[in-house]
Amino acid sequence: MDTVIDAHNISKVYNPETIPVYAVNNVHLHLKKGEFTALVGPSGSGKTTLLNLIGGLDKPDEGNILINGIDITKLSANDLIDFRLHNIGFVFQSFNLIPVLTAKENVEFIMQLQRINKKQRDERIKQLFKEIDLEDKLNERPSKLSGGQQQRVAVARALASKPKFILADEPTANLDSKSASNLLDIMDKLNREENITFLFSTHDQRVIDRARRVITLVDGRIVSDTAEVSTKHEDADMKH
Ligand SMILES: Nc1ncnc2c1ncn2[C@@H]1O[C@H](COP(=O)(O)OP(=O)(O)OP(=O)(O)O)[C@@H](O)[C@H]1O
Ligand SMILES: [Mg+2]
Repeated sequence: MDTVIDAHNISKVYNPETIPVYAVNNVHLHLKKGEFTALVGPSGSGKTTLLNLIGGLDKPDEGNILINGIDITKLSANDLIDFRLHNIGFVFQSFNLIPVLTAKENVEFIMQLQRINKKQRDERIKQLFKEIDLEDKLNERPSKLSGGQQQRVAVARALASKPKFILADEPTANLDSKSASNLLDIMDKLNREENITFLFSTHDQRVIDRARRVITLVDGRIVSDTAEVSTKHEDADMKH
């Protein structure tokens, strides 16, 4: 499988001059295309910071982050904006849809930034709203949609640019359990059927249970990774 994210000993320190907080402390992370991974850990363990670093929303103090072989820590601010637009899809805890735009316009906006023509935009919008099962809400503003529906639009928006992967920071945190489960169904289907790569942080055990790989952070360090456990088992099996 192809590598999409390759982070080498990345660290992020807040307040280095006063009381330093090692929000992310020497993390190595390797993610392959098609993975469906949960990032878990107690509040303050560094999940959001790590997702922001990988998504190029923030720069690490140390280390390199290769996305499809390109080191994003070396890109200029403008190149990074362009790189994010074409390579990374974001889903946030609070949906972050633009309130004055309709659901359709929220999704279309990203494709307009990418200079995709109208015909292609219309086709993609049709396909995306079918996938999130909201074809009847295309022209509604976010305030007319439930939290679960808004988050599904946010997933469509993240997918619109055909990114290499999707980062989602606690995407179900503001959803009731039925909407959360419905969102997971959609993410899971996109992952299985279209090989979309997801890395999402969560506190929710039901969401964790649906991940195929679970990475646990404590105090900015990775303390366990089910992918490594299974590799170790395979190694152990081979020795027998
Ligand atoms: N802008 C900032 N300035 C200073 N410290 C920060 C900043 N952002 C985060 N931190 C600190 O970095 C550490 C990691 O925070 P982060 O938000 O990444 O944790 P988290 O795992 O996402 O937590 P939660 O589960 O509550 O969302 C915490 O100790 C936090 O207080
Ligand atoms: Mg967080």
